[in-house]
Amino acid sequence: QRYARITGTGSCLPTRRVTNAELAAELATRGLETSDDWIVERTGIRARHFAAADQSSSDLGVTAARHALEAAGRLPEDVDLIIVATSTPDMVFPSTATIVQHKLGIAGCPAFDVQAVCSGFVYALTVADAMIRTGAANCALVIGAEVFSRILDFNDRTTCVLFGDGAGAVVLESSSETGLLACKLHADGKHREILQVPGTVSGGQVLGDPLLKMDGQAVFKLAVGVLDEVAREALEAAGRTPADIDWLVPHQANIRIMQGTARKLKLPAERVVVTVHEHGNTSAASIPLALDHGVRSGQVKKGQTVLLEGVGGGFTWGAVLLEL
Ligand code: ACO
Repeated sequence: QRYARITGTGSCLPTRRVTNAELAAELATRGLETSDDWIVERTGIRARHFAAADQSSSDLGVTAARHALEAAGRLPEDVDLIIVATSTPDMVFPSTATIVQHKLGIAGCPAFDVQAVCSGFVYALTVADAMIRTGAANCALVIGAEVFSRILDFNDRTTCVLFGDGAGAVVLESSSETGLLACKLHADGKHREILQVPGTVSGGQVLGDPLLKMDGQAVFKLAVGVLDEVAREALEAAGRTPADIDWLVPHQANIRIMQGTARKLKLPAERVVVTVHEHGNTSAASIPLALDHGVRSGQVKKGQTVLLEGVGGGFTWGAVLLEL
């Protein structure tokens, strides 16, 4: 039997860390009122990182990828597939994955982006898993990289306090040992309007609004239900139960969504990897950033059972159950 197994994790945060108090002071200059207390109480977020003006998703992604390769004991030349999950690509085309490939100094292997917003990383991992199990690849780099600060409306206090920039990466390799146990993905386009960046580029101009719009309460209600359903679906497919989960590594959107999902699965809070307080919501980057944090801090250990799950614009949602 041929499995896909995570052999290394890595991440990258831009150096500029912005606390809630700093963001509140910046918003006050625009006549908007917010506070550290409001943001912490509603979301759990205390700080986020914002990329420098000349830093792109591929810059963050390539650094995360190098750290993951180092952890896996692999060189860029060993990579035979690159998938980047991002909703903030460097440009309309070519894909951020091809830019990452070039920056890694390699050529030839397939490289492409996956766009599923905050579920992007579980989507990308699922595609890489399928390609490895069928023999189309042996050593994949799966990256989530975002510069959401570029699409935030800093005149909308209900959204701009929630997001941050960053990247996370894993090396996924073919193995005779079990690794990824089950991958489940879903989407329902009828919910597209509750979380979107509706603008586009056309005829040499930006058409429509290029900034993020969200109906926070609608997102919240939908998120907890679908995350519980897809988590159970992945567990059932692998013949496991919630009690088998050593670590839940959820998309880091909001501590209340994460706690709500854990409660439904009857998982104690101590088994949830949390980085939202320091990273904010980094969309497709949040799960691999949290996984890398869990691994490097010594929380998540080799051999443990880990459930990754995400939900995002589209709506899209999915879960990956794995043995590390
Ligand atoms: N600072 C101060 N006050 C604020 C702020 C702010 N930054 N933003 C909104 N408010 C005000 C509102 O105007 C409102 O005031 P009002 O009562 O006078 O009208 C009040 O606070 C309450 O607003 P609500 O929208 O009801 O607050 P809620 O408790 O729903 O929290 C939040 C808002 C945090 C966005 C919540 O709905 C949420 O977390 N939703 C999930 C959205 C999410 O996580 N999205 C991430 C992207 S999708 C994904 O990753 C899954």
